[in-house]
Amino acid sequence: MMTRPVIPTGWNENGQTSLICEALVQGRRVKISKALVLYHSQEFGNTAAMAEAVAKGLRNSGCEVDLFNTNEGRFDVTRFPQYDCVAFGSPDYYSYIAGGLKTFMDDHYIYDVRKGLDGLTNKHYVLFYSHGGGGRVKDVMSDIFKRVGTLIGKPVDSRGKPDSQVLNKCTALGKELAKAVT
Ligand SMILES: Cc1cc2nc3c(=O)[nH]c(=O)nc-3n(C[C@H](O)[C@H](O)[C@H](O)COP(=O)(O)O)c2cc1C
Repeated sequence: MMTRPVIPTGWNENGQTSLICEALVQGRRVKISKALVLYHSQEFGNTAAMAEAVAKGLRNSGCEVDLFNTNEGRFDVTRFPQYDCVAFGSPDYYSYIAGGLKTFMDDHYIYDVRKGLDGLTNKHYVLFYSHGGGGRVKDVMSDIFKRVGTLIGKPVDSRGKPDSQVLNKCTALGKELAKAVT
């Protein structure tokens, strides 16, 4: 498939260059979806490896992808409305999600419900998680991320370091998410 790069257009509300989310594919204008892979990885890089595999699936399906590890800082929730879809990934920490992702969901609620920022909900999303043999974080993730929108596919898990089978499942999950928004 022949694609041409996205076309710079102007400025977004933060004063940064914004991009028309379109490309020419075989002479037709098609929308390029923007995807966020928001995850936490700190101990071994297990969740990060899964995040990269999900991002690969999204990119291979034509999405523009941003990856953000909440271990490296607080994700600015006011950036969230620009994304068409999102993949959330967490390690199991005490049968709960990692603190950075919990902070994101706290910010999400406050900006959505109290501050009235538009564009924070009605997103398609997927879930992935790594664990040391427990994995009860799955139930927490299934519950807490509901307010973001519609879950696509089944959550992918890895016990410890993700093997090639798990990574392939993550890539397939990224493709499934892309398909839901393009
Ligand atoms: C503070 C802490 C708490 C953890 N609690 C659990 C747990 O309750 N259940 C579980 O299965 N694994 C638990 N683990 C193991 C991690 O979920 C697992 O090692 C994960 O793959 C780490 O992901 P990362 O390498 O991306 O940081 C815990 C690890 C840490 C550091």
